[in-house]
Amino acid sequence: MISVAIDGPAGSGKSTVSKIVAQKLGFVHLDTGALYRAIAYFIDKSDVDFSSEIDVKKCLKEIDLKVEKGAKEQKILLNDKILTTELRSLNVTKIASKIASYKSVRDYLLELQRSFAKTQNVVMDGRDIGTVVLPDALVKIFITASPEVRAKRRFEQISGDGEKPDYEEILTSIKKRDYEDTHRKIAPLKRADDAILVDNSDMDLNQTVENVLDIIKERTEKI
Ligand code: CDP
Ligand code: CDP
Repeated sequence: MISVAIDGPAGSGKSTVSKIVAQKLGFVHLDTGALYRAIAYFIDKSDVDFSSEIDVKKCLKEIDLKVEKGAKEQKILLNDKILTTELRSLNVTKIASKIASYKSVRDYLLELQRSFAKTQNVVMDGRDIGTVVLPDALVKIFITASPEVRAKRRFEQISGDGEKPDYEEILTSIKKRDYEDTHRKIAPLKRADDAILVDNSDMDLNQTVENVLDIIKERTEKI
């Protein structure tokens, strides 16, 4: 089985690029951030105190999380309910960021992510795929861009949804999340030693996709 691990900070384009690359290669895409968000959604709905790891750990027993193959993309099922746009709310984003620092949550999701890559060719994106989840992945890529460029992308994404975002607020939150992602004790965001760096600050989406496809082609031709 071939695994492509794509990591990087918020707004670097990981999920969008991974999805297109997986489609082009006929691989299955897993956006692992959506798994953290699904747990956050459950917590949000059930009034669990997300600042208490003990309470969060307890509530994991009530969660049945599954990833199923959909027609176009993966479906995330939480206790048999398919989750889509609910995972993108501000509250869910805030809770996901906090609970992603808990060992119990990371352990809970580790096996699910690993088993996904055992039986199929995958493109998996997240923060710790190349370092922790799939350390033996054949291809590892670390996608990044300057915080200003990433904030601008988020700004445009949110504006496209019909809202009126504040650029400075988004930039501050991107920088805060970068700090939290890179400074947490367990599985922090960092480039694996053998990951290829793609800085797409000056690349559009198509150029990034082409660049990533070239890297994968070069690596897989060697085997
Ligand atoms: O998953 P992640 O938070 O890393 O980013 P994303 O949600 O996939 O991408 C954020 C936005 O940036 C999307 O609207 C992408 O289409 C866009 N993007 C871009 O404008 N230029 C790139 N080179 C890569 C992504
Ligand atoms: O799309 P965006 O970059 O805003 O976030 P995401 O990729 O959907 O991730 C949601 C939350 O889960 C973030 O706070 C990440 O730090 C965390 N996460 C993680 O800790 N490990 C992963 N493999 C994926 C996401």
